[in-house]
Amino acid sequence: MRKKIITIVGARPQFVKAAAVSRVLRTAEGLQEVLVHTGQHYDYAMSDIFFEELSIPRPDYNLHVGSGLHGEQTAAMLKGIEEILIKERPAAVMVYGDTNSTLSGALAASKLHIPVAHVEAGLRSFNRRMPEEINRVLTDHLSQWLFVPTSQAAANLAREGVSSSGVYTTGDVMYDAVLFYAERTREEDLSKLGIPATDFILATVHRAENTDDGSRLLSIFNALREISLSHPVVVPLHPRTLKLLQGLGWQNDASRLQLIEPVGYLTMLALQQRSALVITDSGGLQKEAYFLGKHCLTLRNETEWVELVEHGFNDLVSDITHLPALVQSRYKRAVDSGACLLYGDGKSGQKITEILTASLRD
Ligand code: UD1
Repeated sequence: MRKKIITIVGARPQFVKAAAVSRVLRTAEGLQEVLVHTGQHYDYAMSDIFFEELSIPRPDYNLHVGSGLHGEQTAAMLKGIEEILIKERPAAVMVYGDTNSTLSGALAASKLHIPVAHVEAGLRSFNRRMPEEINRVLTDHLSQWLFVPTSQAAANLAREGVSSSGVYTTGDVMYDAVLFYAERTREEDLSKLGIPATDFILATVHRAENTDDGSRLLSIFNALREISLSHPVVVPLHPRTLKLLQGLGWQNDASRLQLIEPVGYLTMLALQQRSALVITDSGGLQKEAYFLGKHCLTLRNETEWVELVEHGFNDLVSDITHLPALVQSRYKRAVDSGACLLYGDGKSGQKITEILTASLRD
């Protein structure tokens, strides 16, 4: 009989990661995947488009949890996931990354003595003020299989006393996804977005640490406005950021600072391919920029992807007043991503599937 694995996703980056693994997992003879969407992200542009573009099967369950305070959102997920797990009785639960959907899945499963597989385990910012850091530390300590993207992540787990017997360095599933999709995005038609064809700066901002402090959020967007005087800037805007900017009464009066709707995965890859520089606070974009040969300026005090900073492919920008000058010096700086394979060989999904198949066979 095939062993049932329940995959739990809910937020945008998880759709990309799960697509890369599910594509392989669903071909494994001994495994059957059941997909649960918590509904943490629910707009067409934040959710459905990813399922369509990445050919992710329709979720077997959608909890439609939606937005809310952390406790409210996490509690609703926990309750919904628990009911599904009791009904489905899977052999394992698979969770991705560091969102509230990740923690809810791991917590619900572990209380029911269902083993948890955590993809993208071991990452640390060492900043417990980030909700993502709390989610990933707790999830790692609840997991039986910890699939880590880098040796640094494995070292982080060792330092916290996590037994190495469950830690597998498989590389990064987002690299699998970029290799699989990047070729077909080279022809992507971006004219519909009404943006310059090339040489623009691509920026995204959504992390609580940047959006929830009004003066920091204003300083970031005022800096982007200043930068746009010398180079066009394109910002696919997360709904959270848009709402908060509107609440602050911020008006965009710069013709070359273009705020656009959130875009799907393929368009985001194409935007990165054609950009001259990436500015972001996203974890995923820092790596995608590297995979696609672009330099990245990260609007944070620290990053989990320390190897990119160590190799000079990424600069952390905590003081926003430094951003315009850094942009001038890094604009069009190319990254030779072929020079060092920091995130594996693009076969992480295959490795994860093989490990799970072998473990669940007995
Ligand atoms: C979540 C993750 C973050 C991840 C990000 C990717 C947590 C704690 N954070 O942050 O790690 O990098 O997803 O995008 O899990 N909203 C919409 N439509 C949607 C989804 C969200 O309008 O489809 C708006 C709502 O105003 C909501 C806000 O975004 O209040 C925040 O959404 P939420 O899911 O709580 O967290 P993210 O900021 O997206």
